[in-house]
Amino acid sequence: MTTLDLEHLVQPDRVHKSVYTDSSLFDLEMEHIFEKAWVYCGHESQVKNVGDYFTVQIGRQPMVMVRDKDQTVHVLYNRCPHRGVELCGNQSGNTGQAFVCSYHAWSFHLNGKVRAIPLMKGYDGTRLHTNDPDSSMVPAPRVQSYRGFVFASLSSSGPDLVEFLGDAKVAFDDMCDRSPVGEVEAVPVMHRVVQKSNWKFFMENQLDALHPSVTHQSTGVAARRVEQRLKSEKGSAPLFFHYLSTFASSFDQWDAVQTVNFPHGHGILKAYMGLRPTDPDTVEYEAILKKAYGEDKGEEYLSRSIHHVLIYPYLSVQSPLQQLRCLRPISASETLSEIWHFRLKGVPEAIYQRSLWYFNLVNSPATMINADDLENWTKAQIGLQSNGGEWVSLHRNHGQDTEKEGVLYSNNGTSEVVMRNQFIAWKAYMLNAQSNNPV
Ligand code: FES
Ligand SMILES: [Fe+2]
Repeated sequence: MTTLDLEHLVQPDRVHKSVYTDSSLFDLEMEHIFEKAWVYCGHESQVKNVGDYFTVQIGRQPMVMVRDKDQTVHVLYNRCPHRGVELCGNQSGNTGQAFVCSYHAWSFHLNGKVRAIPLMKGYDGTRLHTNDPDSSMVPAPRVQSYRGFVFASLSSSGPDLVEFLGDAKVAFDDMCDRSPVGEVEAVPVMHRVVQKSNWKFFMENQLDALHPSVTHQSTGVAARRVEQRLKSEKGSAPLFFHYLSTFASSFDQWDAVQTVNFPHGHGILKAYMGLRPTDPDTVEYEAILKKAYGEDKGEEYLSRSIHHVLIYPYLSVQSPLQQLRCLRPISASETLSEIWHFRLKGVPEAIYQRSLWYFNLVNSPATMINADDLENWTKAQIGLQSNGGEWVSLHRNHGQDTEKEGVLYSNNGTSEVVMRNQFIAWKAYMLNAQSNNPV
């Protein structure tokens, strides 16, 4: 057993490979990061009706998000207080007026409070009482939602949700403001992928502008060829070719895209796809938005420069196309990702189709884009588990970023400031572990 040496593990321009591979460090991450920070549970529209529930993993804890009779959304530990059995075995469903345990039928109100214990007489004279909190399901200490997106924290103290999100809350503003009524709805088809690699690879990759032209070259170049042929033959090509062809942009183009790196490890990759074509569907949609918000506000909402927003350590939101991916780490070398997309309320169907295209063409586990990334991360895990070296290099453009009021701006889009900023946050979370846990 050695003491956790954060100064050694995380240096300004490199990190030790064990932060991706060591299972005792993974346990500390779960305890000191995922089970303390605000973690995304789901969208309110996933539990529309009273009794609707959706199960969710926060760190190592099985939780359930549920809609109560007064419309409140609760997040509870998915555990029966009798002998500890999981209460909801399905991913989602409707539990009616109460949760009823499948083992001995203890039942619970939708806020988790015990409702009935069968054959209560058998407890006469014992210290078990229905008014004892130990007889009820345990709620997450804190639950808050922002514009319909529900988060829970398993810590009773710490910053509130809006403070935690900071400027990265624009992820949800940008998504919702693109609807004329300011709301989105989760599309109930969610893809799930288990990547055979550490969760950090996913987070680093989202704002890594150095990789697309290499990793996704074959797809990008092929899509560009077809896109150009269609344009020359027919005058235009469907927008979805553009989604793929931009992956093969030149390195100069990638360097011209900025990353903005916030406190807490959050960050933004600014827009590079130019998503405002002038076809009739887009013209109609933009007119609807400007009618709802006025010319200036509508223009402001349509022209925000965002490609991805990262909420560290588990969320990637692509607000202009209504995409969201959420990580649920399993072990140091396995990570589950949930892949969602959303429908903007009050917009023409053609605009929803664009979100669906992107969901299927780029983020789905069946696409060539996601598969390319997954392969890299698997190979990265294999390489880092080897004895072929100790360090992971984060040197690119080190010392050349601009810092202003705690925010780091890249001067080159391909700067590894993204990873450096995430490790500043990682180290800050893990300082708690350093003080009371040997590794
Ligand atoms: S374990 Fe749930 S009622 Fe017995
Ligand atoms: Fe990629």
